[in-house]
This record gives sequence, C-alpha cells and structure tokens, in this order.
Amino acid sequence: MTCRDNRFGPREMKNLAPEMKTIQSVSEMKEWSRSCSGSVGLVPTMGYLHRAHLDLVQKSLDACDATTVSLFVNPTQFSPGEDFENYPRDWDGDRARLETMGVDVLFMPDTEAMYPSGFKTNVEVQEVTRRLCGATRPDYFKGMAVVVLKLFNIVRPDKAFFGEKDWQQLQVIKTLVRDLNLDVDVQSLPIVRDADGLALSSRNEYLNPDERRSALALNRGLQAAREMAASGIFSARSIRDRIREIIEEEPGTEIEFISVCDPESFVELDETGDGALIALAVRVGKARLIDNCLLENAKCKSPF
Ligand code: PAJ
Repeated sequence: MTCRDNRFGPREMKNLAPEMKTIQSVSEMKEWSRSCSGSVGLVPTMGYLHRAHLDLVQKSLDACDATTVSLFVNPTQFSPGEDFENYPRDWDGDRARLETMGVDVLFMPDTEAMYPSGFKTNVEVQEVTRRLCGATRPDYFKGMAVVVLKLFNIVRPDKAFFGEKDWQQLQVIKTLVRDLNLDVDVQSLPIVRDADGLALSSRNEYLNPDERRSALALNRGLQAAREMAASGIFSARSIRDRIREIIEEEPGTEIEFISVCDPESFVELDETGDGALIALAVRVGKARLIDNCLLENAKCKSPF
C-alpha cells in the first residue's frame, strides 16, 4: 500500500479514520515514503509510549500531511550492563494508542532489519558528545546517531520531532543534520512532566513508590537552581552544591552528574548567565533518570 492509497483509500471516502499501517521491512518503509506526495513527519521512539511521546506525535500530525512513528529499542545505544534486555515494552498498547491518534505508519523493524550481519558503520558526532551523558554512557551517542541517521534515510521525513528532556541528544541530532546537510527540519518539544513534577520517561516504570518519591528531588533541585539564579546567586558551584544536597537527602539516589554548562557545547560554567543549562543524571534504584532546565533571564525556560 502506498502513502496515497493509505490517505485516500475507501475508508477515507467513507469518513472512517484511515487505518494505520504497520511496516516492519526497510524496503517497504522506503517505498511507502517515496510514494508520499505531501510532507512526512517522523517521531522516532523506543516505545512504551507515554504522554510526551504522544505530544510529539500530535505535533507531527498537526504539522505534516502524513506521520510515521518508529518504534525500535535500539541495541547499539545501550552499553553492556545497561537495561537493553529489560527495557519496558508494550507493542500492542503502543500500536493501539497510535492508531487512535490517526498515525499513518508505525515502523517497527527488528534488529536484523536495521543491523543485518556485516553491518560495519559508525556515526560519530564529536565534541558535543564528549561530556555529560557521553562521559558516562560510552556507546549511547554513537548508537543513537547511527539509528537516527538510518531512520532519516529510510523514512525521508520533511520534519522530525524530538523532546528537550534529552537535551544533549537533541543537540547531537541538530549537529548531525547540519554537518551532513540532511534535508530534515528538526523540531523540539519542551519537557513534559507528571503532576508531581517528575519528567515523564519510559524508565519511570522501574521505580517503586518510595523510589518515585526520591526521584522528585531532580525537579526540586532544578527548581532550587532557578530560585537561586532569580535571587542573584549565579555561582555555578553554589548551585551544584545545593542541587547535590537536595538529591542526596533522598534515600536510594546516586548522582551521576550535576552540570551547569553552556547549552550547546556543554562546557562547564563558573557563573550561570542567561541561557545556561542545568542538566542532571541520577540513578534511583534501577532507573537512570535525566532532567534539565535552561536558565533564561535567570529563570528556567519552562518553569514547573
Ligand atoms: P525515547 O526515550 O523513546 O524517546 C523518544 C522521544 O521522546 C525523544 O525525542 C525524547 O526526547 C522524547 N521524550 C521522552 N520523554 C520526554 C519528556 N518527558 N518530555 C519531552 N520529550 C520526551 O530518545 C529515544 O527514545 C531514542 O534515543 C531515539 C531518539 C528513538 C533513538 O533510538
């Protein structure tokens, strides 16, 4: 079935929502994309979809003629000992949610389709991958960049949608697109949080109720940083120390990094100026959680 068939087939003529197509093969996905006459949006995900994923999907549905969501738990972006095997999966639930929203294609390749035997290529974006998550997760950005570049080549989207929760990932993708002259307009969505302030993440699934309470310290730390900057305390060291205190007060937390840095180069700052990034990675129980905020006019960009 081609893109045009999908949008203007018999179901469409009967005013029924067009059926979502699930594609597993790379060649079929390419064929579908090539047959599209209108603009194509892509939302890359690893599944176990939550409201932030669905907000990205809605953004694509609003902005593009056709929307493809990819669902692929990408093994190359996990290092040995990380949670690839246990990463939460709910294919049927994800499929149902996307179909209800009116997504055109769910692209669900298996590992063999994306990395057939003999696969030999690395994609390395330098500098922006060196610090923060790049320093603690050695394989993450290489694996992420290779899969995102492959998805761009297979789906050929006009626009691709990513979240600001993974701020460094977003900068790596923007750098990749710029350096390799890719014809993709990268759009981003602010961090989506639960009512208690915890940034949504598929990995929140790992948290028991006590750990979830401890995890709220990430957002409280960011909030404190914002208040410090608003009251004229710009010393990055004081801000880092205060965040550390707030997080360490909570049982079961293990800080991976607290960074007060430039939002594009990720170089650590001595003083927070306008637009400084505060980025955190903290282990709570089995979950590795990240969160961030930008200080704008000495305030977070999207205060909670
Ligand atoms: P995944 O963790 O499934 O996230 C898919 C997209 O949802 C990413 O762009 C991520 O930044 C965004 N997202 C997740 N939680 C969010 C939140 N609370 N607020 C805003 N956006 C949020 O990120 C990946 O998958 C993978 O690395 C991928 C890009 C798909 C490559 O494998």
